Amino acid sequence: MKSKNLYIETFGCQMNVNDSERIVSMLADAGYSPDPVLKKADMILLNTCSVRGGAEERVYNRLENLRVLKKANRRLVIGVGGCVAQHEGELLLEKFPWVDLVFGTHNLHLLPDMVKAAEQGQRRSETSFIDNDQRLELFPAVQESSRVSRFVTIMQGCDNFCSYCIVPFVRGREVSRRSDEIREEVRLLAESGVKEIVLLGQNVNSYGLNTPDQPSFAGLIRQLAEIEGIRRIRFTTSHPKDMSDELIACFSDIPKVCGQIQLPAQSGSNAVLKRMNRGYTRESYLDRIRALKSARPGIVITGDMIVGFPGETEEDFEQTMALIEEVRYADVYSFVYSPRPGTRAAEFPEEITREQKQERLERLLKVVRRITLEINSSFTGTIQSILVEGLGKRPGQVSGRADSGKTVNFIGSPDLIGSFVDVRIVAAYQNSLAGEII
Ligand code: SAH
Ligand code: SF4
Ligand code: F3S
Repeated sequence: MKSKNLYIETFGCQMNVNDSERIVSMLADAGYSPDPVLKKADMILLNTCSVRGGAEERVYNRLENLRVLKKANRRLVIGVGGCVAQHEGELLLEKFPWVDLVFGTHNLHLLPDMVKAAEQGQRRSETSFIDNDQRLELFPAVQESSRVSRFVTIMQGCDNFCSYCIVPFVRGREVSRRSDEIREEVRLLAESGVKEIVLLGQNVNSYGLNTPDQPSFAGLIRQLAEIEGIRRIRFTTSHPKDMSDELIACFSDIPKVCGQIQLPAQSGSNAVLKRMNRGYTRESYLDRIRALKSARPGIVITGDMIVGFPGETEEDFEQTMALIEEVRYADVYSFVYSPRPGTRAAEFPEEITREQKQERLERLLKVVRRITLEINSSFTGTIQSILVEGLGKRPGQVSGRADSGKTVNFIGSPDLIGSFVDVRIVAAYQNSLAGEII
């Protein structure tokens, strides 16, 4: 059978990236192989994100653009999955008559059947939630891999209901995957040559908390660290309120756990944190940061911040700026607050103008950029063990990552891809480091 071309475009977070990988491996059986050329596609799938208004708009613009392709080729199958699909469901079929299938975040396993139906001209939308751990095992793990670093989903959903956030509504309740299944997936990845795993979840720190027969997150990490061939373990995202001492101890006891953590604060002001329903204070957040820094000196910390949350005063914002200086984040993913329909904060009165939000964001970014460069520069002259992941930006270069997660480019043979190389850092830039093999 001639294989058909699948064009898949992924928006949003690593969850979606991982889901897209699963979709690709799942649809291989239905005769589809991925092809990055849109015009050649027999099927186009958009795996979508609705975390902010802008993310959703990008999806709608893309969908508008696809209309002409469908006109030119009636046999083209167009599908929408992910968080916008989960939120909008059948409405998408109504609004976009050229869309054939809509699948929610819990319905990936239905895709092969839905695709078959779509090939025969049927239009379907499936967005029901399945709130048990079976859905996590319903689709196969990605087994083939040419890459050295892979994501491994360990949980889905979120129960935190931060007042601004749509994720709990589009990903459903928090469910931890069984640890034996995770171990098996990681073992298979290690056998196929993977050296690094990145454990994924909206709030990995609370892994296992709802499931008494499963280990805690720290317990899971300890189990995975025993798997031969896996040399590095990272995870994302952590929630400060669930950052246990047991987990922090992993940074001092387990060399395979990389010296890097993303620990979003979202705001430095207690008043704002309370309205955000984050479940911690500025003080308890800083206490966790101190514990992390003493468990793993030099640990590279990144975070997320929301600017212009309803009611954020100039003083509140100053507290965020002071927190950034105190923590010294290696990077901060910062976002202007965007009200999401259905969330609690969407009902809070908004007094801050668009210009004020933008002005605060720019002030924040300026400070973040300065600290990032200072931290990057502090690596100059050090020797770092780099896991080479691919070709570098310039000809003759390869690129990989240090334990800290920093990207390092250096002159080297492509044969090095997949191995660890000791490199001296010779220059630091805003987004990467340059090195020389020693
Ligand atoms: N589960 C992760 C990530 C959630 S979404 C966590 O809790 O950290 C990624 C980031 O998007 C969040 O950390 C937050 O900074 C931002 N975000 C979420 N909802 C938002 C909104 N309504 N407006 C602006 N930024 C938002
Ligand atoms: Fe959203 Fe909060 Fe859950 Fe993160 S922890 S996904 S910000 S509700
Ligand atoms: Fe976006 Fe959904 Fe991830 S809303 S950030 S793709 S969980």
